[in-house]
Amino acid sequence: MVAKAGKRSGKKQARVLVLGVGSFAHSIGQVLADGGAQVFTYLTRNYGHYPPSLVGPVFPREVYPSPVPLVRERKIDLVMPQSIDWAQAPWANDLMKSGAAIFCPTGEAMRIERERDFARRLCARFRVPFPQSHVASNRLEAERILKEHARPFVIKNPLCSPTSPVHTILCETVEDTRAWLKQVNYAEGVFLQEYLGRAEAGHIVLVSGGEVHSLVTNQEYKYAFNGNLGIVAGAPLGGLVEQDPDDRYGLAEQLIRPLIPWFREAQFHGPLQVTAIRRDGRWHVVEYNIRIGVTSGPMILRMLKNPVEVLLRAARNERLAPEFDTCKRFGCSVTLAGYGYPFTQVRGPQLPLDISGKPDCDVWWNEVARDAEGRLMATGHRIADVIALESTLERAIERAYMNIRKLRVVGSYYRTDVGQSMWPPGQV
Ligand SMILES: Nc1ncnc2c1ncn2[C@@H]1O[C@H](COP(=O)(O)OP(=O)(O)O)[C@@H](O)[C@H]1O
Ligand SMILES: [Mg+2]
Repeated sequence: MVAKAGKRSGKKQARVLVLGVGSFAHSIGQVLADGGAQVFTYLTRNYGHYPPSLVGPVFPREVYPSPVPLVRERKIDLVMPQSIDWAQAPWANDLMKSGAAIFCPTGEAMRIERERDFARRLCARFRVPFPQSHVASNRLEAERILKEHARPFVIKNPLCSPTSPVHTILCETVEDTRAWLKQVNYAEGVFLQEYLGRAEAGHIVLVSGGEVHSLVTNQEYKYAFNGNLGIVAGAPLGGLVEQDPDDRYGLAEQLIRPLIPWFREAQFHGPLQVTAIRRDGRWHVVEYNIRIGVTSGPMILRMLKNPVEVLLRAARNERLAPEFDTCKRFGCSVTLAGYGYPFTQVRGPQLPLDISGKPDCDVWWNEVARDAEGRLMATGHRIADVIALESTLERAIERAYMNIRKLRVVGSYYRTDVGQSMWPPGQV
């Protein structure tokens, strides 16, 4: 049994259920616990169970087929999903009816992330620049499209899910595209999106109470290796976040605010991130996500003075007043990758994780567990995210690197150049 809801500054203590694993659940859970919430985690995947157990009670899906009884028994106020696949679960409707607020848009509003072609149509309707894109259901169709529109295409899943058969493949030439089209899995078809170059940035807002609140502008270092070399990995190797309530780069103005009429129609409320690429002097949308993200989320929540209240109010579609801690204007995240990454087919054994010296910034464990002797072990491809928040970008980067050097796993690596390219936004 858990302790009774405590009191904090006269308010009822919020009870949060995180749906996720690994560093997402570890970081989001810990920041909300630090903000006064009582945190539980429903483990939605079969790895990364140890990190959230450091924050509060955890419930594996193998033992608890549905989180809904937990929501009722534990009187959960707020549910924080890691990805959108919760909506496909057999218990999704019951969760929506459970009375807990879900920090994720639902129903029609979800389509902006789930269906890439829906996002494309939405952008066309509101005259938001979106790369030329096509859906193909098989290889012949895809090759015909490439013949008709001879340009490089990025190959993506048409329906977004963490378990999609296709993960984004960057092709920079027509020949690259032709070569990859022979290799991809067409089980769900493919979404071909014109390649727009490398001048990328992201912007994250909360939509609530009929208003759009800009939170941050961000950059993710998605190439596996220094110098933006190698493949675009399954998740970023690093990230930067800058507090940006005034939308200083105009990303919300150009790519999010034009959708306000649709937000109202679809009763959209919750987080929205746009990933954008600048070409010919204009920002184009390459993707929308309805999440604060595994890389940016933990930095955003640390930047807020009132994270629990902000998330709860956004999940309930109420008016928001995010308060930023100006000592934490910038965040830098560096990921420690394990043996085999980014080629996830290659796997190593469980390997000892040594820590030299006490970290003085956030270290969020991902694929890490304790062995029978209680030693920390790296158990997979993404070991930890090391995150520092500071008043300047330089200091945030420096502190993150000072701390990641304290971690050692044989065969692991991290990018040593986060922040040296692709910032400020629009730069390559
Ligand atoms: N049209 C494009 N042109 C150039 N690069 C792209 C394009 N689409 C995606 N990318 C690159 O691939 C990354 C992943 O693509 P994205 O659409 O965000 O899919 P996901 O995050 O689901 O893998 C982007 O962050 C960007 O770096
Ligand atoms: Mg993306």
